[in-house]
Amino acid sequence: MNNHDIINVEDITSALKTRIIGKKITHYHETDSTNTRARQFALDGCQEGTVITAESQSKGRGRENRDWHSPHGTGIYMSVILYPRISLKGLPRITLVAAVAVAEALKNSAHIRVEIKWPNDLLLNNKKICGILTELCSLGNEKNAVIVGIGINVNTPADMFPADIANIASSILIETKEKFSRLEIIKSVIEYFDRYYEVFLQSGFDSILGTWKDYSNIVGRKIQVKQSGTAVTGTVIDVDMDGALLLKNGDGVIRTIYSGDISYILPDIRY
Ligand code: BTN
Repeated sequence: MNNHDIINVEDITSALKTRIIGKKITHYHETDSTNTRARQFALDGCQEGTVITAESQSKGRGRENRDWHSPHGTGIYMSVILYPRISLKGLPRITLVAAVAVAEALKNSAHIRVEIKWPNDLLLNNKKICGILTELCSLGNEKNAVIVGIGINVNTPADMFPADIANIASSILIETKEKFSRLEIIKSVIEYFDRYYEVFLQSGFDSILGTWKDYSNIVGRKIQVKQSGTAVTGTVIDVDMDGALLLKNGDGVIRTIYSGDISYILPDIRY
């Protein structure tokens, strides 16, 4: 672990060998939300792959308008601006590509093996240590930007988590009892995201789906999905080319699930 765990843009860019992501990086001491800042950068016409990071966020947000608790200097709060030619329906694929990139980055820079929980969570010891918020930003003339916001609880101590999420959220520090260099992890996330994004653009999502499935372990599991107040239960029989779940219920009916919050149902019987 680097004792001077301060994010410095030159320290990130100096060693980066990426093609698209991280050519331009703006780092804030504090901001409202790096996704909100990234949206403004996109509207101002920034180049693809621009990265916004922050030491802390006062209005960090997650899916479903939840807050993303972002204390100073302990986590990674970053957003990446991309211009892929995809529609709203293709958006979940970008989240899955980002999830694979973060999982690979954590494996290689911190030597930890996370599990991807569809669609946007990364778990360590069954606790959430990372969330991804992918948002579409319309730029007019049918052009869109995709903002990929990544929050990783790296060195966040237990007493910094709000009580209402303390039993589901955690940090790498809490789970491993080790401090990690946020700088090394950020560099690695940028490098893996750049690599997988290029694979996605050139060879399509299906060439990343296998790696995603290895990290997610979801196929064959019984789950409950909550979508705006209603819940459906079934067994995941596959993840399709859009990154959607194919869920088979007790009557054998297969539904395609594009979004929602899932929970695993025990006993976890596989077929
Ligand atoms: C979730 O789990 O619901 C997604 C959480 C995403 C949090 C990150 S932190 C960086 C970026 N800026 C935000 O305001 N949110 C994302």
